[in-house]
Amino acid sequence: MSSNKTRVGANTIAANKLMDQFDGHHSVWLFGYGSLIYKADFPFIERRPASIANWTRRFWQGSHDHRGTEAAPGRVATIVPADGAVCHGMAYLVAPEVFVHLDYREKNGYLRLTTAIAFEEGGQVEGLVYIATDDNEAFLGAASELDIAHHIARSSGPSGPNSEYLIHLAMALRELGKDDPHVFAIEEHLAQLAASDASDMKTV
Ligand code: SIN
Repeated sequence: MSSNKTRVGANTIAANKLMDQFDGHHSVWLFGYGSLIYKADFPFIERRPASIANWTRRFWQGSHDHRGTEAAPGRVATIVPADGAVCHGMAYLVAPEVFVHLDYREKNGYLRLTTAIAFEEGGQVEGLVYIATDDNEAFLGAASELDIAHHIARSSGPSGPNSEYLIHLAMALRELGKDDPHVFAIEEHLAQLAASDASDMKTV
């Protein structure tokens, strides 16, 4: 993490309000790669499977408000730069008013940034994506997939158990027909941890 970067606060609502790239547009494409794939709790005009290039999904962001607490943050997805990588997800065409709700939902470190979005069926547009960059206060950073699974297994927050986020995301990626070795490795470790917890309980 570079020391001359300004630290992004744990609450990004005010920063995101200042983003005016699509002012005056009647609709905006938003790319989702985490919970936005499987939980579309906002109105959208249409949605299409899509991807963004040179980013990869990582469970490196802390969650104080959804899948953990400030005292015991959970681990949720962000994307980090990776040359040549393709991050698959879902693109939503939304009215600009929807960002009031989305900025609140994504307030724990995510900034709304512009990106090129490639649709699975062909074609490309300029749109937005929420990214929790490594300079935000809730960023946890890299850890092994096994350690991430342990962290997720013990975390829970107002939106429910952290494991639910990971499992729903893995299921949604499978439905899209997409591989994500990082997500599926954590899912596998979580299943093993749950199985060994269950057998420990039987032997007690
Ligand atoms: C996203 O899904 O695109 C952002 C991160 C999240 O809300 O899980």
